[in-house]
Amino acid sequence: MDLFAYRHGELHAEDVPVRAIAERVGTPCYIYSQGTLESHYDRLIEAFAPIHPLVCYSIKSCPNLSVLKVLHDRGAGMDVVSGGELFRARSAGVEGSRCVYAGVGKTDEEIRYAIREGVGSGNGVATGLFNCESEEEFENLARIARDERAVVRVALRINPDVDPKTHRYTSTGKKETKFGVDLERARRFFVLYGRDAYAKLEGLHLHIGSPVYTTDPYREALTKTAKLVDELATDGITIRSIDLGGGFGADYESAQSPPLKQYADAILPLALPLHERGIQFILEPGRTIVANAGILLVKVLYTKTSGEKRFIICDAGMNALLRPSHYGSFHFIWPVEPGEAMIPARRTLDPNLPNTATQDVVGPLCESGDFLALDRTLPANIKRGDLLAVFTAGAYGMSMANRYNSSVLPAEVLVNGSAASLVRTRENFSSLIEHELTTSPISLDCAAREVCGVHAS
Ligand code: LLP
Repeated sequence: MDLFAYRHGELHAEDVPVRAIAERVGTPCYIYSQGTLESHYDRLIEAFAPIHPLVCYSIKSCPNLSVLKVLHDRGAGMDVVSGGELFRARSAGVEGSRCVYAGVGKTDEEIRYAIREGVGSGNGVATGLFNCESEEEFENLARIARDERAVVRVALRINPDVDPKTHRYTSTGKKETKFGVDLERARRFFVLYGRDAYAKLEGLHLHIGSPVYTTDPYREALTKTAKLVDELATDGITIRSIDLGGGFGADYESAQSPPLKQYADAILPLALPLHERGIQFILEPGRTIVANAGILLVKVLYTKTSGEKRFIICDAGMNALLRPSHYGSFHFIWPVEPGEAMIPARRTLDPNLPNTATQDVVGPLCESGDFLALDRTLPANIKRGDLLAVFTAGAYGMSMANRYNSSVLPAEVLVNGSAASLVRTRENFSSLIEHELTTSPISLDCAAREVCGVHAS
């Protein structure tokens, strides 16, 4: 599952004791394992080998440049949903033509930037597209492409109205969500826009939700997609690519997620016949690659008891890892040096474990919603100064971290074997105010409108 393991009584990231990292870079700190990233990527490629997909790593899950570089070196393209993410991909050396660009709210400036960076410019083999989410967006994209005298390849994001059985906030393939175009409109969309000279509509994109722990929703979505491909063929329209999005699970508890091969075994029987008709498949995994490849390391500042309740107060909470308070997500948490008798055999709750107590693991922020775990069975002897590891934090951890209460963003470390590298320094107080203007406010007329390095029209 990953390369974080207890050895000689203490947690190691690959061959590096986690405590040694905390001593050097402090806490809170994200630690990523390169070996885990690589093996997850390789397993995905292996599982889906029969359809040779272009795997576009979903940058939003963990956008650190060094993580992107590891996956780029492995052959990954990138899934981006903003100009900022495209900038990250380009900064990591990924060609724009190897990026897919989705998102319901692309600005003109972002579209222009993406065209100039080569999104949608590939020849169709293992290259990415603009994933368009609405009629108005298509018309705007076609207008800007014409303006730029560029021909860009476009996929229509369809909304297959499938229930991924996941959290309401991250369910994206149901009709009532803002994503994509429903299947009835999809057919008309191709008839209406299929002949545009600058925005070449040639693919279908879907992303049903995240995380999806069963394979049936994928089968249901792909069955509907295949039907649409056939209907479009009767309209004289040839689909050249299908992007199945992301959403494969991760092990927040040991063995919680189906192995990648199980997803592939469910999807391949439907995908292979399409692949054999010349359709290029694209996958956009994030979580399944990076979630278990990262931990968040926090330090216990204080413990206290209030009535029956014991609180473990840490130096980070929902500012560093928003998932528990935002989605009620479970992350396994355990001391870095729990003592030989308390080393967990599995990352799962064991209320019968001796010498434990039910405790809340909370952060320092001024909200009761600031927690990493509530009513959690943890060693009873956790004390001030102990280090705690929050597991499976690689995906949507640092990428959703924030500066609430003017806290600074954590450091990030990438471990490869026995080498640990600092890949993002901890912010400091100056970082908090670097964009604020107090002494000589500039007039609104000269305020910089440029974000992507190109002017908005
Ligand atoms: N493609 C698209 C178009 C997406 O919107 C997403 C995720 C992915 C791919 C990658 O999904 P993954 O393979 O990572 O499941 N913040 C939430 C997750 C939000 C996912 C948003 N979209 C969380 O912490 O669980």
